Amino acid sequence: MAASLDGFIARKDGRVDWLETIRRVRRRGDHGPRIREAFLKTIDCYVMGSRTYETALSFEANGLGWSYGDTPTFVLTSRVLPRIRDTVEFYSGDLAQFVNGRLRPAFRTIWFVGGGVVSAECLRLGLADEVRYSILPILIGDGIQFFEKLDRDIPLHLAEVTAYKSGMVELRYEVLALRRRALSEHRLKAGDQCQELSNRK
Ligand SMILES: NC(=O)c1ccc[n+]([C@@H]2O[C@H](COP(=O)([O-])OP(=O)(O)OC[C@H]3O[C@@H](n4cnc5c(N)ncnc54)[C@H](OP(=O)(O)O)[C@@H]3O)[C@@H](O)[C@H]2O)c1
Repeated sequence: MAASLDGFIARKDGRVDWLETIRRVRRRGDHGPRIREAFLKTIDCYVMGSRTYETALSFEANGLGWSYGDTPTFVLTSRVLPRIRDTVEFYSGDLAQFVNGRLRPAFRTIWFVGGGVVSAECLRLGLADEVRYSILPILIGDGIQFFEKLDRDIPLHLAEVTAYKSGMVELRYEVLALRRRALSEHRLKAGDQCQELSNRK
């Protein structure tokens, strides 16, 4: 997600008018948005909280379009919300079960759009292997946090930093618990292969 320098993704009432900063950043001709668009093409499905979906609905109603193209989009909600596209599906219930049981077998790159409640839920449940955090050059004083009510520490590894002339900074973090698990799986696999080779000898 994109956040203000003081760590907010939206104002308290959900408004994201200050994201206009992004459009200014784009007008300044940075290459970032183009790289970002190429990256967005690699996303196989989106998952978002109902409040983020409601923001997307209001963008659409105001003629700003739908940002998620034809990519399957799963909206987490316990309410009945308007379904404005065939690509939109609603889900209510256990997020870990949904992601591991339903999404992972079908999609390679799963992108959690947000908002703050969902991104915290996702980290708390150990579902995220990466966090992409864009800092915009603005302070808004108060609002919805990037990770709303996260109740434990999540150690991260800073994997990439890209700073743009416009003042936007993109950070990519790997979630350490998952990184360690991936490394040890890799080592186990490499160990198996060595064992197999020495058996063959
Ligand atoms: N700056 C950025 O890049 C960025 C990106 C994304 C969003 N945003 C902004 O962030 C704001 C919304 O963030 P938020 O933290 O308030 O809300 P959110 O994370 O978008 O949505 C939270 C809601 O989703 C539903 N939900 C979450 N997990 C669920 C589950 N497992 N099962 C069923 N329902 C579930 C619940 O609502 P119900 O069950 O009541 O429906 C919950 O209150 C919006 O203003 C949006 O525009 C900004």
